[in-house]
Amino acid sequence: MIQRLPMTLIPSLYILTLQVFLPYKPGVDFGPLNQTVVGSVIINFECRQDTDIIILNMNDILIKNDSLKLGDQDSNKSLDVEIEEIDDLKHILKLRSYPSMLKGRNYTLLIHYGTRVRAPNDGGLFLASYEHNGEKR
Ligand SMILES: *[C@@H]1O[C@H](CO)[C@@H](O)[C@H](O)[C@H]1NC(C)=O
Ligand SMILES: *[C@@H]1O[C@H](CO)[C@@H](O)[C@H](O)[C@H]1NC(C)=O
Ligand SMILES: *[C@@H]1O[C@H](CO)[C@@H](O)[C@H](O)[C@H]1NC(C)=O
Ligand SMILES: *[C@@H]1O[C@H](CO)[C@@H](O)[C@H](O)[C@H]1NC(C)=O
Repeated sequence: MIQRLPMTLIPSLYILTLQVFLPYKPGVDFGPLNQTVVGSVIINFECRQDTDIIILNMNDILIKNDSLKLGDQDSNKSLDVEIEEIDDLKHILKLRSYPSMLKGRNYTLLIHYGTRVRAPNDGGLFLASYEHNGEKR
């Protein structure tokens, strides 16, 4: 099912930090962390329509509910956010906020995640779209 929905979340800024455990020469051993990356991404976005759903593109990342934080930039209040769905085939990560995000407000999403070392253009985590409150399911 492919469907075009109006843009509701408009990202304005991504900040990525990565720590790479790549054994780059003989004798370097990160143990079980060999070939892994731990990172975090901060995404600022503007909400153009009330919604409780955030959809991100992701590729092969490990993520947990407690690695997520969502805040309202205007009130500095944090919202509860949790993983609604991970679709590894479509590379989609769907998050749900409580309460809903409100039209006209800016939000900041912080995600800590883990992944494996890969080709540079082969992964990541990016805000993909938007879905209108109630329009899904
Ligand atoms: C990590 O990589 C290094 C270098 O390739 C290797 O010597 C070491 O055995 C690896 N460690 C593990 C736990 O896989
Ligand atoms: C939110 O936090 C920022 C930076 O800490 C501060 O400048 C601002 O006044 C705060 N806003 C409210 C509504 O508390
Ligand atoms: C995240 O929390 C929701 C609600 O508590 C739960 O349904 C879901 O299974 C959790 N997902 C993960 C990956 O922990
Ligand atoms: C939200 O962020 C956008 C882009 O940075 C900015 O133009 C806008 O004024 C912000 N809105 C509020 C309510 O702070």
